[in-house]
Amino acid sequence: MRERILIVDDEAGVRASLSGILSDEGYRVDAVETGEAGVKAVESNRYELALLDVWLPGIDGIETLTRIQAIDPDLPVVVISGHGTVETAVKAVRLGAADFIEKPLSLERILLAVSNSLRRRKLEQEVRALKAEVEHKHQIVGESEAVKELLRVIAQAAPSNGRVLITGENGTGKELVARGIHQQSLRSGGPFVEVNCAAIPEELIESELFGHTKGSFTGATASRKGKFEIADGGTLFLDEIGDMTLKTQAKVLRALQEQKIEPVGGAASVNVDVRVIAATNKNLEDEIRKGTFREDLYFRLNVIPIHVLPLRERRSDIPLLVKHFSREYAAEYGKHIKDYASEAMEMLSAHDWPGNVRELRNMVERLVIMAKGDVVQVSDLGVLRSPLAADQPASAPPAPTRDPGPAAAGGAVLNGDFESLALAREDFERRYIARKHEACHGNMSRTAEALGVERSYLYKKMKALGLIAPKRGAESTEADA
Ligand SMILES: Nc1ncnc2c1ncn2[C@@H]1O[C@H](COP(=O)(O)OP(=O)(O)OP(=O)(O)O)[C@@H](O)[C@H]1O
Ligand SMILES: [Mg+2]
Repeated sequence: MRERILIVDDEAGVRASLSGILSDEGYRVDAVETGEAGVKAVESNRYELALLDVWLPGIDGIETLTRIQAIDPDLPVVVISGHGTVETAVKAVRLGAADFIEKPLSLERILLAVSNSLRRRKLEQEVRALKAEVEHKHQIVGESEAVKELLRVIAQAAPSNGRVLITGENGTGKELVARGIHQQSLRSGGPFVEVNCAAIPEELIESELFGHTKGSFTGATASRKGKFEIADGGTLFLDEIGDMTLKTQAKVLRALQEQKIEPVGGAASVNVDVRVIAATNKNLEDEIRKGTFREDLYFRLNVIPIHVLPLRERRSDIPLLVKHFSREYAAEYGKHIKDYASEAMEMLSAHDWPGNVRELRNMVERLVIMAKGDVVQVSDLGVLRSPLAADQPASAPPAPTRDPGPAAAGGAVLNGDFESLALAREDFERRYIARKHEACHGNMSRTAEALGVERSYLYKKMKALGLIAPKRGAESTEADA
């Protein structure tokens, strides 16, 4: 899209020559004669840039600038000063004008000021968008009491310098908690440095944490700073701390005790000011009992304990998370945001999510890409989850149930006890399909349509679930046709 530029100058000659030059450069140009007209133009159009004469009849350039900024604070304004008005131009720049150019106008100077201001505006917009994206990405979403409490604890713990130990299953959001603490802490201007202790090979972890000097081991072709030093003034996030060997634990303990580190192969130790936040999905007390984790390190790290609950213990967060991720992925893939049929949402809420929020996030990503309609249906979940069918019991399905049971009277959703997810899902599907089938007065085609599945698939499914006997199914096929 061509960028649109506004020119405000009382001299017809200047308006004409500026308009000419900028149009030739491919910009869309509007030119007005007075400050009042300029303000009006900014009110009713979107500009990427304004060129403003500081000396104007009526309201002057400074007043015009102030009013324009009030309307569109992000619009860069390049002021044009005539001779004798340089001071005013300087004042304008102090008030936030992007740049100034002097009369007589030089072609080069005009184009340079215009392209610089436009480029800067674009960069600022990009930075703002990226910041918003990062913040959005690291936002802790949820409305359960557990999440509210979590946010309270984060807010409370953040401003202190206390070490934090975050525990919780895989994918519960431990890293988000760590980032949240950093962001709300007095160190938020400093770095947030993450080390995944499980991902780094044993022989490299020391150098990774404490750095090394050139030649200290084979392959150390140059000196390198360790993560402790890189995190100086900020926060060091030691992830998967339960996977550190006893030897490394001893070194980390020393670093914490002395706030000092010794690079591998180096003589001089380095002072560091680092807040350590650690996380693990292991039960460190068990590890201590087994002798694989040092008790003294545990006490050092565990000043403020934070436990993140698994998703299945805070199911009320699921719908909100689904919406949050839907919005995020719809934007990422340039798709419409899908709605969820209430039954589909109920099914998602009933699932146990062993991989917690990460698993839910992946599921929603797949749905954004794969689900066919504008509304995600139970059938979309079924198809996408077919790999889970592997855990279906080999035994024959339960005897045909003609009576759809309580489901017909409103449909209880999965909350009873089942031996496996497969059985729970099957029970849900049986009730759900039976209810829809009944609502469609037993018409197979209409039921299939309501469920968003192929008629042939529904037929097979209902037979497998024991909702129709094969023979009666054959009749109904004819009746439908
Ligand atoms: N409450 C939440 N709101 C929004 N997104 C979340 C929430 N919890 C987790 N996530 C997202 O789920 C994913 C997993 O979160 P995170 O990496 O923080 O978990 P973790 O506990 O560190 O997992 P692991 O133990 O596997 O390292 C991330 O993409 C994260 O953004
Ligand atoms: Mg993690």
